[in-house]
Amino acid sequence: MNNNLLVVGNWKMKLGLKESLKLANGLKKKIKRKSKVEVGICPSHSSLYPVAAAVRGSNIKLGAQNLFWEEEGAFTGEISPSMLKELGCELVIIGHSERRQYLGETDEMVHKKTRIALENKIMPIVCVGENLEEREDKKTDFIIINQVTKALQGINVEENDQLVVAYEPVWVIGSGQAINPEDAEHVHRVIRQTLIDLNPKEVVDNNFRIIYGGSVDSDNVTSFTDKKLIEGVLVGGASLKAEKFVNIINAIK
Ligand code: PGA
Repeated sequence: MNNNLLVVGNWKMKLGLKESLKLANGLKKKIKRKSKVEVGICPSHSSLYPVAAAVRGSNIKLGAQNLFWEEEGAFTGEISPSMLKELGCELVIIGHSERRQYLGETDEMVHKKTRIALENKIMPIVCVGENLEEREDKKTDFIIINQVTKALQGINVEENDQLVVAYEPVWVIGSGQAINPEDAEHVHRVIRQTLIDLNPKEVVDNNFRIIYGGSVDSDNVTSFTDKKLIEGVLVGGASLKAEKFVNIINAIK
């Protein structure tokens, strides 16, 4: 069972090589080696290799922002799970709403990516979330159940597998205004119930974590992580400066 809270920085397409290295070095200095908080960072693919070297010897886990669902082949522009492993990636963000929106990523693609990540022992962080229209139409629960089910149905979770579902309300991402923590907790309950419908309860308890993402910062993070069902956060904007990101980690200790 993994009781550690998870804090993952999603650097998106925002930092080049130099900036990524500077941030990685800053984080390595500031993040204590022994901590109950599990920390991950997800640079752009182009910076993964040097960032891996920069954070070696720390307890910062390296992650990617995407992967492809085949092991190898004629898939121009894509990156395979074994290539990510070679670079030292231990986690991968899958189905982020920006990819669903701009790259046409479907639930089926999210499913295939999740499956291959697990087969390669890379921890998938599967993102789900409703957009504003869906929220206003009171369809949030329906959308979430559907996304979680399509991503995970039929995937066999083995004993040591770790999976993460990240609830990210699309309309809140990058807005500077996080969702009300009680509303987030409600959706986490819906996700947990959906996971229990798909897997034995012990598997949900032992192998899954459900985290929140969307305008998290050091001021609001504990209003989320204080909730029993919120087991960490996925951070965009506030993960791009070492101090801001470390403040988030320190706030929840
Ligand atoms: P944000 O992004 O923290 O800037 O809202 C979160 C995300 O997109 O994962």
